[in-house]
Amino acid sequence: MSTYPTTRLRRLRRTDWLRSLTSENRLSLDDLIWTVIITDQDIDFEPVPSMPGVNRIGLKALAGEAKRAQALGIPAIALFPHINPKLKSSDAQEALNEDGLIPLAIKIIKQAAPDIGIIVDVALDPYTDHGHDGLMQDGLILNDPSVDMLCDSALILAQAGADIVAPSDMMDGRVGEIRSRLDAHGFEDLAIMSYAAKYASGFYGPYRDAIGTATALTGDKRTYQMDPANAQEALREVELDIYEGADMFMVKPGLPYLDIVTRIKAEFGRPTFAFQVSGEYAMIMAAAQNGWIDGDRVMMESLMCFKRAGCDGILTYFAPKAAEVLGR
Ligand code: PBG
Repeated sequence: MSTYPTTRLRRLRRTDWLRSLTSENRLSLDDLIWTVIITDQDIDFEPVPSMPGVNRIGLKALAGEAKRAQALGIPAIALFPHINPKLKSSDAQEALNEDGLIPLAIKIIKQAAPDIGIIVDVALDPYTDHGHDGLMQDGLILNDPSVDMLCDSALILAQAGADIVAPSDMMDGRVGEIRSRLDAHGFEDLAIMSYAAKYASGFYGPYRDAIGTATALTGDKRTYQMDPANAQEALREVELDIYEGADMFMVKPGLPYLDIVTRIKAEFGRPTFAFQVSGEYAMIMAAAQNGWIDGDRVMMESLMCFKRAGCDGILTYFAPKAAEVLGR
């Protein structure tokens, strides 16, 4: 191998065209999944204070937003519900309402923008009055009864027209049980995107404000979400989800956990995604608003880093903004 002065890596960095000719990764519209917070309030938009630029979207404004996303070329939307606290309960019954917020939202989007894929979260936290992703008894989160309910919920979302269900609860065994429940009802072609390696993270703070679970949450989620110290365990989570029939795998949060993405992709070679979560979004926006960083530039750089780490796609609140930049 030759070295300097025969080799000069700067030769290929000289011009725009040389840099693009030799670039190793590309970010495209096809990589973007727009994470959207839907509210059951009778409004069009309501800003989320801790997420500048992000609105809770009311059902009245949803068709327009779905059309806008389709026109921008965004391939898929991931939906998250902000529901009236009066509908929350300890047994999360609202999660099983066939005419609930998310089933209604799915129908509106399907009608307005039929070419957009719809990914729905399967978890109980928007519906429980204690803010946990599962059913609770005497301060403990019950695994198997929660899984049972997640299966019911996944089926309702499938029947409402979801294209992909994404269990985000981190209960053991839920992917396999959801797979069997869906298959038993004729949904054998509906894909499961597993939140396979989801960490107990402080980066979810703004999201919990956005869907109204922050004040409700008693304790934390460390008995089911993963310890940020662990990487080997993430591989075990993915391995189990592969056996249980998951089609796509997600790491969450995103940027601080890119080493996990790279390891999962290298080890299993499956469709691998990452979620650039609310706190990551908020940090970039806050610094940009203060004029401390160039917001658009850091947005695009961060998205490219997901690709370089091995992501097939990125769930991000930046999707519409990034799509505008990519479309230029
Ligand atoms: C939980 C769930 C979380 C997010 C989406 N669904 C995390 C949590 O509250 O524990 C976080 C999304 C984000 O921070 O953007 N089912």
